[in-house]
Amino acid sequence: MSMATSFLGGAKDRLLPASIPFRFFLAAALFHVAAWAELLLGAGELPGWAGGPGPVLAALHLATLGVFAMTAMGASYQLLPVVTRAALASTWPARGSFWLAAPGVLLLTWGMEAGLVAHMQIGAAMTGAGLLLFAGLTAVNLARAGSVAVIAAHGWAALGAVLVLAGLGLTLVWDFAGGFLADREGLARLHMVWAVFGFMGLLVAGFSMVLVPMFVLSRSLPARPGWAGLAMGLAGLAAASAGLWWVALAGAGGAAAAHLWLMRHAERNSMRRRLGLSFALLRGGRYILLIALAVTAVFWATAPIPNAPTLIGFLLVAGWLLTFLMAVLQRIMPFLASMHASGASGLPLLISELTAETPLRIHAFTHFAAIVLIAAGIVLSDTLVIRLGATSGLVGALAFAAFAVNVALKLRKAQKASRDIRRGKRVERRG
Ligand code: HEM
Repeated sequence: MSMATSFLGGAKDRLLPASIPFRFFLAAALFHVAAWAELLLGAGELPGWAGGPGPVLAALHLATLGVFAMTAMGASYQLLPVVTRAALASTWPARGSFWLAAPGVLLLTWGMEAGLVAHMQIGAAMTGAGLLLFAGLTAVNLARAGSVAVIAAHGWAALGAVLVLAGLGLTLVWDFAGGFLADREGLARLHMVWAVFGFMGLLVAGFSMVLVPMFVLSRSLPARPGWAGLAMGLAGLAAASAGLWWVALAGAGGAAAAHLWLMRHAERNSMRRRLGLSFALLRGGRYILLIALAVTAVFWATAPIPNAPTLIGFLLVAGWLLTFLMAVLQRIMPFLASMHASGASGLPLLISELTAETPLRIHAFTHFAAIVLIAAGIVLSDTLVIRLGATSGLVGALAFAAFAVNVALKLRKAQKASRDIRRGKRVERRG
């Protein structure tokens, strides 16, 4: 049986109320707008940015916590019970984690923008608590995932990484008040590595093994390259923690190669001829990951690349991860909405009835334009080019938000209509 079929078999029984994943996805779409707006504000500081409060740090965490963590939480809560074939025991912790993390990210990034340490501390504590609740709930779910061991193993490793990155992040926030760290720069670099490659990288690799075969309708993926990728990724994280940076880069490169091989395998065995816009984003994101790793190697080999650390960080965060998550969100939102909503016939609504192509096309075009312009602006230290790029990103984010709100409104309308039909039938029976 294909992974897609096994994923979908009986999935409807294990769907959470739509309001749970959708609150995370809508929040992600709004934080996405805020992240590009904040980057536009901080355009002048970006090329030589070397840490510290201000709009660049705020934009970074609006993207990483606001978009990445929110999407990861919403998708994990919804997809894991389906993959593991075990419904969540109760839904209140998932709702609770949203009400801790979403306001927490707002407060943290407000504090980062304005240099307000108390805001940062309260925001970081709330966000950390939301992530902890998410990790606990996901751990309970993963513990039941006997039949999908390679995916569960990626999940366990990503959860471990959440604890490390949140611990390091909180320490960095408290250091803004106390200045007690001897090597703040080194700790910030480790936080970045565990957040980008540990938490997000492992989730991207794990979820891709479920989502991509499902989207392209292909057979199950072989587990061995998945295990090999995980082993190399974890070895890379361990090497980075020990300061062995070339070994870490080799580990990241090996994990990326295994991931790319699996994705090509799925796409080659696809039963779909046209994979659509989201796949242009998925592929684009993967190529940007390879470019970021290659730029890192060239830079470390002492080739002079102006503002290389910022360029590499930007390519990883906005070029790879943001592109990947936007692709997943635009596929998963109409897909989940179609499973939750029935049309007048009582059958699930078609995905094509729920999506909106024009805003997605605008988003894809402006998103890639933003990546190219900002990367060029960083290398050239040209604020105007960065501003143009951030404006392009902002236009794309607004278009994406229009798409996301449109899906949510259509879902609400369809759910209301089916409630009305059910109520009408009950009244008829009574009559
Ligand atoms: C509880 C959650 C988090 C908190 C409290 C937090 C806090 C911080 C702080 C205080 C800094 C240091 C800035 C400086 O040195 O001036 C930082 C840097 C950074 N964070 Fe986070 N962060 C969190 C989560 C994340 C996540 C989820 C990601 C990515 C997925 C991320 C990516 C980064 C990156 C790329 C940097 C820049 C590191 C560098 O300067 O080399 N953070 N974070």
